Amino acid sequence: MRELLLCAPDYYGIEYEINPWMSRAQGAEIELAKRQWRGLHETLGSLHAKVELVPGQPKLPDMVFTANAGLAVGRKFIPSNFRHEERAREAPFFARCMEEHGYEVLWLAKDLYFEGEGDALFGGDALFCGYKFRSDIQSHRAVGEMLGCLVISVELVDARFYHLDTCFCPLPDGAAVWFPAAFDEYGQRAIRAHVPDLIDVAEEEAKTFCCNAVVLERDIVLPQGAPKLVSELTKRGYRCHQLPMSEFLKAGGACKCLTMFMPQRETP
Ligand code: ARG
Repeated sequence: MRELLLCAPDYYGIEYEINPWMSRAQGAEIELAKRQWRGLHETLGSLHAKVELVPGQPKLPDMVFTANAGLAVGRKFIPSNFRHEERAREAPFFARCMEEHGYEVLWLAKDLYFEGEGDALFGGDALFCGYKFRSDIQSHRAVGEMLGCLVISVELVDARFYHLDTCFCPLPDGAAVWFPAAFDEYGQRAIRAHVPDLIDVAEEEAKTFCCNAVVLERDIVLPQGAPKLVSELTKRGYRCHQLPMSEFLKAGGACKCLTMFMPQRETP
């Protein structure tokens, strides 16, 4: 059974703007956000995942996005070094929580920005790592050395898709869902070389954050609004669970951003 880390939206809100989706003027409807989050929590629980919760903290409105807590592989946990000061105070809370769950916490050098599973996803034998808007490419080598795994760094070029998990989603059968235009040409080539079976998402569906999906074997939990992708995944034998995520999209996040695997992989 997969273990997942979530954080209830008790202190959630749009209180600053650190990506193109966020607008303080627009704000999020908190009661609706809580209902949407409970929908995610219940759906993941019903798919036989074990959901662990990290307590949210006042004045840390983005702590709900646990994918950015860090990266867990085996019994090791590498906490994020957030690029933005607004989120940096989350790190010790996540690290303590993972320590309490028995993880060995390995910090990166302070000057290496790294935003955890949001920018680091295993596909096949490689750990794909996104860089530029949040994580630094230099952090990838350090992560690869700590974990002893092959890292493939890919540059993100569209500020709307500022974390890797907003535009890339590996599937258990070796395929992956992606929005190609979010990557530069080299990144596209690297992904094509390592993942021969790619499901392209069109921009209109990518904008609904459909790549931001939690994959649990044959079950895929994703935000609603991407019928073409859902029909392609269904054809391939996946069960799609489409959830309303409007209030989290306003912060630039959806299902996967709200979820971290504990661990993402048993072995690197
Ligand atoms: N507002 C948050 C930020 O800009 C959203 C994080 C989304 N997380 C993710 N894994 N893509 O940092």
